[in-house]
Amino acid sequence: MSARIIDGKAVAAEIRNRVASQSAEFQQRSGIVPHLAAVLVGEDPASAVYVRNKQTACEKAGLKSTLHRLPVETTTEQLLALVARLNDDPGTHGILVQLPLPRQIAEQRVLDAVTPLKDVDCFHAENVGLMVQGRPRFLPCTPSGCQQLLIHAAIETAGKHAVVLGRSEIVGKPMAMLLVQKGLAADATVTICHSRTQNLSEIVRQADIVVAAIGRPNFVTADMVKPGATVIDVGINRVGDKLVGDVDFEAVRAVAGAITPVPGGVGPMTIAMLLQNTLRAAELQAI
Ligand code: GUN
Repeated sequence: MSARIIDGKAVAAEIRNRVASQSAEFQQRSGIVPHLAAVLVGEDPASAVYVRNKQTACEKAGLKSTLHRLPVETTTEQLLALVARLNDDPGTHGILVQLPLPRQIAEQRVLDAVTPLKDVDCFHAENVGLMVQGRPRFLPCTPSGCQQLLIHAAIETAGKHAVVLGRSEIVGKPMAMLLVQKGLAADATVTICHSRTQNLSEIVRQADIVVAAIGRPNFVTADMVKPGATVIDVGINRVGDKLVGDVDFEAVRAVAGAITPVPGGVGPMTIAMLLQNTLRAAELQAI
């Protein structure tokens, strides 16, 4: 049996359309066009592509976006000065500082400096805290995108064992927190595995839902997946001239019940959720 493919592109398009019409209504009511400021430091080609995709998606949904490009040698103080200016600008509703930042920049200081009401990545401690307590202001883009895919594919999560591979602040930790909350696409029993986990394959084999976010190409192999399990692949790894996920897609699809492809799975969802957060930021600031 071959797994059902969860089409992230299609689900993301639905969400983007919904944001576009909600944003148009909001503009009619308030006269405000939600505006995302994206900050790109340096010349990392992958980051440049991601930021361009985010901007294009904004424009297609009728949101405004502005790109702030800074040279690779930018200092922490210079970047903090830009963040302060964007924090104070009433015409900017969302601020996204694309990661990774060049080595000399104190990343945490910069992320901490983004005012929580404009923190559309949901990286600020205040927003992470609210999310963990189950009263989110913003939802973290990639994890909530994964959750939307589970909802769309009608995957039962309540009482199921979800195994998250990876403990990053951007994906692994917040993903586990969303899955353990009460509610839709949640109520799961959650295990987080990481580079120091013992018996990792055995644990993953017990999972009803696997979320792979470790950044290692083809790490999850068919023998690690329980027959019928749902596999969400967050990985985007460049191997030669190909993009591959953290899951050995061709082998695992023969075992899994449902699986996301790379590309066309989680990636487009991250962008769709960013648009949703940008609209929400504008709405919150209009109150
Ligand atoms: N780099 C990789 N993923 C992300 C993301 O979701 N947000 C930001 N700001 N940078 C990233």
